[in-house]
This record gives sequence, structure tokens and C-alpha cells, in this order.
Amino acid sequence: MDMRPIGVFDSGLGGLTAVHSLWQILPEETLIYFGDTARVPYGGRSRETILQYARQDVRFLRSFDLKAILIACGTVTTTSLPTLRAENDLPIVGVVEPACRRALAVSKNKRIGMIATQASVRSGAYEATLRQMNPEVEVVCKACPLLVPLVENGRYQPGDAVIETVAREYLEPLRQEGLDVLILGCTHYPLLTDIIREIMGPEVSLVNAGAESVHTLHDVLARRQ
Ligand code: DGL
Repeated sequence: MDMRPIGVFDSGLGGLTAVHSLWQILPEETLIYFGDTARVPYGGRSRETILQYARQDVRFLRSFDLKAILIACGTVTTTSLPTLRAENDLPIVGVVEPACRRALAVSKNKRIGMIATQASVRSGAYEATLRQMNPEVEVVCKACPLLVPLVENGRYQPGDAVIETVAREYLEPLRQEGLDVLILGCTHYPLLTDIIREIMGPEVSLVNAGAESVHTLHDVLARRQ
């Protein structure tokens, strides 16, 4: 086994939801986690700024001798993944493809919702990936810009009136869409799973993009090792 660590990064603490899965699925691996909490949130910034930050994040992580990088951030994956892959000679896994694959596997009616940051929604990456995998799929995307700052400020517990009100405002319209799957396209959102499930109802399955990416990372490492 290659004993070098895996680098994991996000704009903040959201990527720790992927680390949680990493510890379960790849417990023998060593991780180096970078959360750019000085500059979070990324999601309201331009594509150019996000790419610039992402390059700096990768450069910092690569000051360690890594065997792979997990971009545990929807916003960086949707805006910067192809560029980062082209510029770096090590495996880089993002969250979009794994989440889309899982969503299509779980969905029966092929009406899939996706919530994420403004930059991720603007990129169209989740829709494009879902349509490429299944041209029949219907996709409803919604940006939820206030969720990341609230989570970063510790407002993610069920019973917190502020996060519950904001989440309901964003998600209530999605309830009318007849979705059977909702992709949590930002890695901060799994911290809101109970609140989101309460609003969306039990018939809507939630897909955790960060957790799904760890399965892909597992496969990539297994092939190389
Ligand atoms: N966890 C990041 C994501 O997946 C949050 C982005 C932000 O900082 O706005 O998109």
C-alpha cells in the first residue's frame, strides 16, 4: 500500500462531512485536511476567483507528498475540476459525478433536485452531468446562498429558528416539484440532513455528494494499488 497521505480540501468545514465517510470507508488512510476558513464562503464569488483560490489550496496541500486529492467541495468541483486535473499529475476526485451517479441509481421517476451554492448552480455542472448519464432526466436546481455562512457560524442544529426558517424558505418551493431525490450538492449541507429531511418529507431520498465521492476515491486508489 502507498502510505502517503490523501489531501482533502474545502472552502471551510463542510468537507469534514466527506472526511467522516473517509474514516469509515478507508480507515487505514492518513489524511491532511485543509479548510479555507479565512475566505469561506466561495459560493458567491466569480469563477475566476474560485479557480484562483482552488489553485492555492492545491498548491498548499501539495507541499506535502500526497498520493491523491479529494476536492470535498461542490463549488470547487463544479468550477475548477478539469483545470486542476490538467495542471496536476496525481489523481483528483471531485463530488459531482459520484453524486449524480448515485442520484440516478436511487431515483425511480427521474425527477431529481439539486441544491448547492450560487457558483455551482450557475456552472450547470450537476445538470450537465446528470443529462450526460441519462438524457431523459428532469433536473431542478436551486441555489441556497445563506446556508454555508449559517453552518460556518454553528447554526445547523435542529430547533435553531434561524436555520430552519432559511432552509424552509429555500426548500418549500422544491416540495411542489414531485422530486424523489435531492442532491445535497454542497458538502456543508449534510450537517442539515435532519432539517432538510423534515421539510422535504420521507419520500425524497437525500444524496450526500461528499460521501459519494469517497466511494469513487476508494475505487481510484484500489485500481492504482
Ligand atoms: N462546501 C462548499 C461546497 O461544497 C461550500 C462552498 C462555499 O464556501 O460557498 O460548495
